[in-house]
Amino acid sequence: MENNTEVKFESMPRIGERAPSFTAVTTQGEIKFPEQYEGNWVILFSHPADFTPVCTSEFMTFATLEPKFDELGCKLVGLSVDGLYSHIAWLRTIKDKIDYKGMKNVEVKFPLIEDISMEVAKKYGMIQPGEATTKAVRAVFVIDPKGIIRTIIYYPLSLGRNFDELIRVVQALKTADAFGVATPADWRPGDDAIVPTAGSCGVAKDRMEGKQEGVTCHDWFFCTKKLDKATVLTAIGKGYKK
Ligand code: BEZ
Repeated sequence: MENNTEVKFESMPRIGERAPSFTAVTTQGEIKFPEQYEGNWVILFSHPADFTPVCTSEFMTFATLEPKFDELGCKLVGLSVDGLYSHIAWLRTIKDKIDYKGMKNVEVKFPLIEDISMEVAKKYGMIQPGEATTKAVRAVFVIDPKGIIRTIIYYPLSLGRNFDELIRVVQALKTADAFGVATPADWRPGDDAIVPTAGSCGVAKDRMEGKQEGVTCHDWFFCTKKLDKATVLTAIGKGYKK
């Protein structure tokens, strides 16, 4: 960790807020974010540096899983504070040379933003001086089709992300929206979902007495219901099948 706290945050975006807008140059041309992605889910993620091992393993995994994110209607956009030519050279090296865990000839087709000014990284709270002043941490912003930030996860430099979890996050957010439910710990499609707490005594009593079809109450504030896997996957797109 670097011991320099001189770099100031411009802001820390928060869940429920609109994703800060920016225009950027990427390996796939210029993008206008998040406007260009409206109508889709999108994951904006940062990595510390090109030509580094953890980042390489992550990019190969993201690129390999891109079709699964696509099935969920979720686009991917990467960012680091490196320049465009570094990005292009690194992605070419990955495709031409790296054979890792059964992944080879991996082509990264999603855009990778160049951010040498760190403007975007600062806007999104990706520069965390306690960890590094010259690199972005591993940030993940999950943004919905209206451009609202729905989940934020930050990882330190040394820790590669868990991609099953990123798929699960998109599945769970889409399920919450589609069915008006919440999702309990470690939820996966096919598991029971949590129904909102009953607003009136009569409804709560009916639930507790098992009078609501398919609803099981563990106490008055904690009721779950079956949510069939096929129904969920049809509603949200298939995503990652284990
Ligand atoms: C890596 O991706 O391997 C890495 C990048 C920056 C700092 C530490 C590790």
